[in-house]
Amino acid sequence: MQRQRVWDLPIRLFHWLLVASIVFAYASGQLGGNLIEWHARTGYFIVGLVVFRLLWGLVGTPTARFASFVRGPTAIAAYLRGEWRGIGHNPLGALSVLALLGLVALQAATGLFTNDDIAFEGPLAAWVGKTLSDRFHSWHAWIQNGLLVLVAVHVAAILFYAHVRKENLVKPMITGWSHTPSHPAPPSETRRGGGVVAFLVTVALSAGVAYAAAGGLNPPPPPAQTPPAASPGW
Ligand code: HEM
Ligand code: HEM
Repeated sequence: MQRQRVWDLPIRLFHWLLVASIVFAYASGQLGGNLIEWHARTGYFIVGLVVFRLLWGLVGTPTARFASFVRGPTAIAAYLRGEWRGIGHNPLGALSVLALLGLVALQAATGLFTNDDIAFEGPLAAWVGKTLSDRFHSWHAWIQNGLLVLVAVHVAAILFYAHVRKENLVKPMITGWSHTPSHPAPPSETRRGGGVVAFLVTVALSAGVAYAAAGGLNPPPPPAQTPPAASPGW
């Protein structure tokens, strides 16, 4: 057995922050009411997390990069025949990573345009008008079901690996390291990347997008109309 570095710290932080935020967003969305402001804030944070992950997939360490794990049908078939060797996401797992990221992004994006029909509207809802915003509301309520199914499949796959294939995938997602059978990762997977500068630039860009998603770049509301002074009675 060989001890190999699998996940960098940013990926691990991203993953567990995403899990906590999705759980809170889901629960607060269901409860609604006064929690809606916190629901929305968590949603902006999730927007930032997803943008971070997309950019880190370009400039992060090798196992984080989409180019290193997103593969075509031939590689997926080879994986299913038991012929895949490597570390990080396998070619089939890569599909679930893309689906999870895509659906989380859609859920958060539709939230930005929705409204709760009472006192809250998403920061971008005014851009699309009430009718379309109501439609976003029903999409937002629908996509959560797809997300629920995907998360269930995701956790089931992790449990399958743990109990049937006797491979603990959770520990590397916590510690960053895995113990793999002694087939070293191909050179492309051991190349370094994802330095401090790349990390800081990625965080800054993600924070910028989250700020814009939260309505930070919306034009200021027009000044409140002051009612004309009541004319004196004489
Ligand atoms: C709201 C629930 C969850 C969401 C949205 C979610 C999302 C994700 C995403 C997007 C990835 C890809 C990581 C990356 O490359 O950036 C991932 C990987 C992973 N997740 Fe989750 N996850 C959730 C819950 C969980 C839970 C509860 C566990 C543990 C029981 C878990 C364990 C893992 C592991 C071990 C991996 C790495 C899989 C591999 O080795 O290919 N996740 N998850
Ligand atoms: C990935 C992030 C998000 C998740 C997982 C999520 C999840 C949910 C869920 C489960 C509901 C309840 C839907 C229903 O059954 O009626 C909901 C409702 C809602 N969400 Fe989100 N949401 C997210 C992001 C956002 C964002 C960014 C905003 C706005 C800034 C937002 C605004 C709303 C509003 C206004 C409602 C309606 C509440 C009501 O009708 O009482 N959501 N969300």
